[in-house]
Amino acid sequence: MGISFHTWIELIIRWLHVITGIAWIGASFYFVWLDNNLERPAKPKKGEADGELWSVHGGGFYHNKKYMSAPSNMPEHLHWFKYEAYFTWLSGFLLMGIIYYYGASLYLIDSSKMAFAPWQAITASMGMFAGGWVFYDLLCKSPLRKKPGIFAILLFILLTLSAVAAGKMFSDRAAYIQVGAMIGTMMAGNVFFNIIPNQKIVVADLIAGRPVNPEFGKAAKLRSMHNNYMTLPVLFIMTSAHYPMTYGSGMGWLGLALISLAGIAVRHYFNLRHTEKPKAPFALAAIIFMIAAMTFPLALQKPTTPTVGEISFENVRQIIDTHCTACHAQNPTHEWYDEAPSGFLLDTDALIKQYKALIMERAVTGKDMPLGNETKMTDAEREILRAWIKGE
Ligand code: HEC
Repeated sequence: MGISFHTWIELIIRWLHVITGIAWIGASFYFVWLDNNLERPAKPKKGEADGELWSVHGGGFYHNKKYMSAPSNMPEHLHWFKYEAYFTWLSGFLLMGIIYYYGASLYLIDSSKMAFAPWQAITASMGMFAGGWVFYDLLCKSPLRKKPGIFAILLFILLTLSAVAAGKMFSDRAAYIQVGAMIGTMMAGNVFFNIIPNQKIVVADLIAGRPVNPEFGKAAKLRSMHNNYMTLPVLFIMTSAHYPMTYGSGMGWLGLALISLAGIAVRHYFNLRHTEKPKAPFALAAIIFMIAAMTFPLALQKPTTPTVGEISFENVRQIIDTHCTACHAQNPTHEWYDEAPSGFLLDTDALIKQYKALIMERAVTGKDMPLGNETKMTDAEREILRAWIKGE
């Protein structure tokens, strides 16, 4: 067996992506937590801290202080938090490239939706990233920035529409990743193009003793708040490839919208935890959204009327041979694979019977197999599999 360089490189980049993502989001969660837990003096005097906090971790005591204005003498080493965000985005983009662009015909394109050539699908995907960012950035600079509630609702609707559009253009699984990467691009763009540059201006003004324009702080705050609420939906999307019942429900966008709402509600609950405001409704809402995500997309699926007559196992065997065993066999014939993907084999009758539930999940209720629908498996063939599996 030779070394599969492509897969090793993918492994290393994915590893990096997870590590930098944890560092970024971990720091972001930590600072939100810190802000929520600071003990604030009623009226801080000039030069005095606006809040402070003691904590214990790893055998030592930590004493944080927060200043809204410049400390009387600016410390020599001021720590910034930005490389976590940049490297998360870079590694994410590389992963997108190595999986969904390099393997566009298998992973990005679903020929039963749009018969894109790889370059067309890749251009559409990149166009959505760039367009999404430019549009979002313009919205952040528009008068809408003064109405954060309406802004948030509009942003949610726009992203859901992107999910619908991506679902029409790309494979179900790629559609989720496309939206996740769009949100990730907005989050990293916020850090790179806005939060950090604005902070630099503010720091420079403070050091020079100039009055600070509050608009910089407000703009950074708005974007940082968006980032805060976008985290949980993005994290779900990044794990969604393991859960074909979400993207493959036939109404992937709806499931995504509901799960995202659950994530946003959970985030809001935690943001409110240290305030007097009622928070239980948000915990409850998260549960309701999750239950809705489990049930709505399936309930709304168009009922299929199986028009299949008598089915013999021969029919099933033939369909699997036509559409699956080029990859899922001891010695795959598909040019991409030297061994069966995920070690999953369907090349004997016994294996087909043993894994009927998995076949149902990926090729009947979900339709992400065969990958990219390269062999153009028809709905009628999927119905034959369904009827056989149900009758077994
Ligand atoms: C072009 C190659 C290819 C073809 C053809 C293909 N698959 Fe797959 N299959 C994959 C890859 C790659 C994976 C692993 C990645 C994933 O889970 O999405 C996979 C994973 C699976 C899994 C998950 C296995 C596990 O244990 O995680 C199932 C089930 C599956 N395929 C079923 C099918 C069925 C049924 C067909 C035919 C209708 C089919 N596949 C056709 C490439 C293919």
